[in-house]
Amino acid sequence: MELIELSADHPDPAVIALGARLLREGRLVAFPTEKVYGLGANALDADAVARIFTAKGRPSFNPIIVHVASAELAQDVVREWPDMAAALARAFWPGPLTLVLPRKPHVPNIVTAGLDTVAVRVPAHPVALALLAAARLPVAAPSANKSTMLSPTTAAHVVQSLGDAVDLILDGGPTTVGIESTVIDLSGEQPTLLRPGTIALPNIEAVVGPVARATHAADGAARPSPGMMERHYSPRARLVLADVHDLEATLERERQTGGRVAALVLSDVTLPVASDDVRVVRAPTEAGAYAARLYATLHELDATGADVIVVEQVPAAVEWLGVRDRLQRATRR
Ligand code: TXA
Ligand code: MG
Repeated sequence: MELIELSADHPDPAVIALGARLLREGRLVAFPTEKVYGLGANALDADAVARIFTAKGRPSFNPIIVHVASAELAQDVVREWPDMAAALARAFWPGPLTLVLPRKPHVPNIVTAGLDTVAVRVPAHPVALALLAAARLPVAAPSANKSTMLSPTTAAHVVQSLGDAVDLILDGGPTTVGIESTVIDLSGEQPTLLRPGTIALPNIEAVVGPVARATHAADGAARPSPGMMERHYSPRARLVLADVHDLEATLERERQTGGRVAALVLSDVTLPVASDDVRVVRAPTEAGAYAARLYATLHELDATGADVIVVEQVPAAVEWLGVRDRLQRATRR
């Protein structure tokens, strides 16, 4: 495994060319997107994509997002490009929006987990865009972490999680948006939200009209796409969600069961006395700022050796959907 630092804004073309060459040779290259680090492989090379599944320990029923350099290139992997796709691409690409559309037959089954659809997006990060352009390939890239674990927002997280399974890590510094892209399915009658992210749903609806949030799971998570039901985005420590009025009792209970307790609370909460020997992180009360810091904070708390992280439940308002979804999944074991 090789790690090369490069400027996030003006990536060295020689380093990008090396990454592109490795991708064309069927190797794995980790790179920053504006959201999390991705673990990339040539999406048209089934053997290369198989190495992603092996490296991550990813179950084969979980399909992978294909990253492309532009909306034109997205049309090389999808066989339909409805007006809604064009409108969403115009509004949000490059950016943290993933579109699910019918796939072209040359996209290997392993990428789509055998589905007739493929997920595509154009990431808004100069390193990712330069790499995609130089490789002249669609690049399949899930988050660069072991399956079900916390997503990486720095190159160091990638090394920690995947180590030598990756051929090259392009280290463009910490990513800034934190939680993964919003996933919208455009292959059915009505656009459907499969995974909430940081683009507010009303902003998407302003472009395409009503978006279904179909069968909500009881816990408020959006309808699962394949591979989304199970535990996901989890830190090593056990994560416990508590409403603000249950915080005190929860902290006390967890302390008494003996483990090392950490807490992630909204910055305006007053903590009980019982929390004296609890490592507390206060998070922003604005959803976007909270999302941007979430994974980095959970990585930090994990690194302190905490056995349990008590997280104050965030508001139910629509701008918090993405964060609520990730917290909910992170509590699953
Ligand atoms: O921000 C992101 O989206 C990051 C960066 C690297 O781009 N990627 C990412 O990939 O989060 P991953 O593999 O961790 O999540 C992919 C999600 C999964 O929830 C998967 O179920 C869904 O996209 N997905 C992929 N292809 C799909 C398809 N054909 N139909 C429905 N859902 C799909
Ligand atoms: Mg992931």
